[in-house]
Amino acid sequence: MFREDFNSYKSQNPPLSKVLNFNDCKHLLTKQVKEVKVKMNAKAKFGLKPSKDWKVYELNNNSGLIFIKNPFTVTGQRYWIIRSLRDYTNKPNKLNLDIHNIIPQNEEFWTFSQKDINVMNKLRWATLGYHHNWDTKVYSETSKSDFPLDLASLSQYVADVLNFSEFRAEAAIVNFYHMNSRLSGHTDHSEQFLEAPLFSFSFGQTAIFLIGGATIDTKPTALFIESGDIIVMSKESRLCYHGVPKILHAEVNLLTNDNEEINGEELNCDTLEDCNDSIYWTTFQKYINNCRININVRQVLRPINSILDS
Ligand code: OGA
Ligand code: MN
Repeated sequence: MFREDFNSYKSQNPPLSKVLNFNDCKHLLTKQVKEVKVKMNAKAKFGLKPSKDWKVYELNNNSGLIFIKNPFTVTGQRYWIIRSLRDYTNKPNKLNLDIHNIIPQNEEFWTFSQKDINVMNKLRWATLGYHHNWDTKVYSETSKSDFPLDLASLSQYVADVLNFSEFRAEAAIVNFYHMNSRLSGHTDHSEQFLEAPLFSFSFGQTAIFLIGGATIDTKPTALFIESGDIIVMSKESRLCYHGVPKILHAEVNLLTNDNEEINGEELNCDTLEDCNDSIYWTTFQKYINNCRININVRQVLRPINSILDS
């Protein structure tokens, strides 16, 4: 069931009318989606709008799958895009490009890619914190680097608004998709503490996302993920099959900066200045005009208290 749907959505003519679109409120009136109440008093932080303005939904057929319709400001989106591409690709974070030794030892991805467009096109993922091992799927104490403070704060803040206040961000995969990229159906089960939710932030081009059941025999639900949307996989949905069969072209308008007041606490100050520089932004806008960035944040370890209890 999952595979058949994946193949149908990855085709030249995917059945778009069957894809849940969270811009379209009529879905709320169907049996598929319900609105979720969140903590309403959370201030605008980390490039997000105040939580009273968030639109948060849960899928009825995929319990625990939470969808937050783009809660970011324009500057907020710019911030996370610049951080992903320019900074999270820095050493000691790992990149798919590392094994090919394409980037000289003394250079970072971003500076090098400005001189070599091929390198830019070959970027597929970066891992942060506990590095996801793509072969063994095992996290190891000997393969980890510092988790970026701003990304940990963003994730923990969203977790808190949704009442998952114990969440700790310990590992992330930043996925870089091109228009012909796909991510096959899989479950994320390498983390030791699978009770913790997983937070997924998307920027740039639109994806069709499929979320199924615990086995590949369940028919998945298809939904559009647009720039700025957040998906949280919690409870039952945390271990469900999911994948991205298709990237669709979208106009991502981050060119007119809303120049809003942004609470810069715990964000990187220099990057905030860069966000408001329209010339500096142009390079990043070009990237997201043809690519999608997905930041997939996980807790790896059991909470400290539960180790003490056991
Ligand atoms: C992942 C993942 C989904 C996405 O990185 O494990 O499922 O939306 N990503 O890119
Ligand atoms: Mn996944």
